[in-house]
Amino acid sequence: MYIATKVKTMEFSGTMQISGKAKELKAQGINVIDLSVGEPDFPTPQRIKDAAIKAMEDGHTGYTMAAGIVPLRKAVGKWIKDFSGVEYAVNEIIVSNGAKHSLYNTLQTIIDVGEEVIIPAPYWVTYPALVKIVDGIPVYIDTTSESDFKITPEQLKAAITDKTRALILCNPSNPTGSVYSKSELEAIGKIVLENDLYVISDEIYSRLVYDDFEYASFPSLSPELKKKTILIEGVSKSYSMTGWRIGFTAADKELISGMGKLQSQMTSNPCSISQYAAIEAISGLQSDVEEMRKTFSGRREYLFNALNKIDGVKAENAKGAFYLFPDFSSYFGKSNAGTKIEGSMDLAMYLIAEAQVATVPGSVFGAEGFMRIAYATSMENLEEGIKRIKEALNKLS
Ligand SMILES: Cc1ncc(COP(=O)(O)O)c(C=O)c1O
Repeated sequence: MYIATKVKTMEFSGTMQISGKAKELKAQGINVIDLSVGEPDFPTPQRIKDAAIKAMEDGHTGYTMAAGIVPLRKAVGKWIKDFSGVEYAVNEIIVSNGAKHSLYNTLQTIIDVGEEVIIPAPYWVTYPALVKIVDGIPVYIDTTSESDFKITPEQLKAAITDKTRALILCNPSNPTGSVYSKSELEAIGKIVLENDLYVISDEIYSRLVYDDFEYASFPSLSPELKKKTILIEGVSKSYSMTGWRIGFTAADKELISGMGKLQSQMTSNPCSISQYAAIEAISGLQSDVEEMRKTFSGRREYLFNALNKIDGVKAENAKGAFYLFPDFSSYFGKSNAGTKIEGSMDLAMYLIAEAQVATVPGSVFGAEGFMRIAYATSMENLEEGIKRIKEALNKLS
């Protein structure tokens, strides 16, 4: 069967491979502890589900404007302004089918064939894949746990060529949970302006920041930087709405108009019912969101301490999102009953087979040596998962 090269050479998402394996085992009745998933375990708050039911009853079941209904785009503008002080007009906001789609629209709108997009590693697996889909070239900047997995202005400067069009910043980060401080962002912003780059600032985890960390949104740094920023936001993570498929992009109106054109030809509007639910999500009482954030923070504390108590495991504490990214490399080269652990993928497969615990290997995020462990699951599951990981690691020698 003929398949176009672009799709033939595309890799399956590494995270999906692992969660697929976990689902397969669960379907066989095996009690798998899934620490691989990138979605909250909470149900969508009732007030949001009620708003969706009302939208259907009110007959909001037809096509909407391709870029999303005006009341939602207005609500997004207010939601962003209340959070970071940055003002966006309705024609500077587009609603898409999840933040992943927002990112696709963005890249398709700003990248011409052969242009380079800088991606700090470890990265969310979808970034390189999307850059390749739009015929751009991903250029990676490696970071280490010593720098809290953040790039420096010097590293950024060194990675820029005359083909560089954009930098993707994931802040807070999936997979590491690290968050840039305002001054770190300002130093990056200076290089961005000097080189006339776009910054795709993926802030989908912006509402999940812990320890009173003072979060700075990239477009809030200066009016000049706002002009160069494409802000990606959404309801999937902070409102536990992954299945509703609503993402937001805020940027200069010419860019948004380009994305609107693209979206109108590709998908038309995002789900009408989800759009009405999203208005309630971001405009209604936010106490449920705060409850979820506090629960995540408690789990994070537990996981951080428990991981560091395991022999040979080193974890930094995350400031945001719902992942830790500990170093497991001291187990590489060891084996158990003929199974040798050469790298993080082997370790992930070993942990599923031996302990029935699903984690995601650092290699899929471009950072060998580490494992991504999500705490978007109950405390009981985390405790059981840690116990099983410890037992399985103890069998390696
Ligand atoms: C960093 C990051 N950006 C965007 C997304 C996509 O979110 P959505 O479900 O809204 O498409 C994810 C989901 O895993 C993510 O981790």
